[in-house]
Amino acid sequence: MTIFDEVMPDAVPASGTAVSPARTMTIRHYAMTAPEHFTVEYAINPWMDTATPVDTALALDQWDTLRRVYADLGHTVDSVTPRRGLPDMVYAANGGFLVGDTAVVARFAYPQRAGEADAYAEWMTAAGYRTVFTHHVNEGQGDLLLVGSNLLAGYGFRTDRRAHAEIAAATGLDVTGLELIDPRFYHLDTALAVLDDSTIAYYPPAFSDDARRRITELFGDAIEVGSADAYVLGLNVVSDGRHVVMPSAATGFADQLRRAGFEPIGVDLSELLKGGGSVKCCTLERYP
Ligand code: ARG
Repeated sequence: MTIFDEVMPDAVPASGTAVSPARTMTIRHYAMTAPEHFTVEYAINPWMDTATPVDTALALDQWDTLRRVYADLGHTVDSVTPRRGLPDMVYAANGGFLVGDTAVVARFAYPQRAGEADAYAEWMTAAGYRTVFTHHVNEGQGDLLLVGSNLLAGYGFRTDRRAHAEIAAATGLDVTGLELIDPRFYHLDTALAVLDDSTIAYYPPAFSDDARRRITELFGDAIEVGSADAYVLGLNVVSDGRHVVMPSAATGFADQLRRAGFEPIGVDLSELLKGGGSVKCCTLERYP
């Protein structure tokens, strides 16, 4: 693991520097699924290559480091039991979208992942959620990112645009659809990072012109990330409003975050990148 910065309480940079004041964290609640059965045995996105060997033991180590980073920051992490035969189940963000006592259960685009919906629905029911199912494909927090009370919803590769209205009805949230156009960035969480209730970062080339217009209208101070960072899934991050847990290889984005007053914490999830996922993909947030 690389920690870019020591986790320091409220270190405010000296005045006169170009750095924004320090940000405020809020305690979060996450669910994660260990990559016990993780392999790349099918290819459903351009990052996956079935010829590349996967070191499952290393994947487990890297994943456990991520889990400990959250715990050390004071966040709660629940464990979902992994199931044999569902190698992508480690990407817990895709299991659904959780807010209050409502769980919108995923409906996966590819049959290889369909069984995960049952596994996540079972866990959600046991955790006390009221489960809601959509008729159209939705891949949970892979494509559904909450910014304040605005739910940003990706479409174009996985989540069906028609699921957006179903999700708005189930959650009462305002949904903003954003079209993805580059297959490398097939889920919204590969191209857009939520940093706090009103701040995002994104990779403009991953979005249609209309989506870019919407993003700039909604977020005047959005951070634009460059290709080198986007291509290591640098935007696939989890932020508590202050600490941004992120792929350690995205060093340019880490600098941008520091300048904006955030504290980047880099983790190496190289094995999980072989499946086309990183920090955010492995983390399902339980919104209050
Ligand atoms: N192999 C998985 C897939 O293609 C990766 C999912 C990554 N998850 C995410 N939230 N982007 O479906």
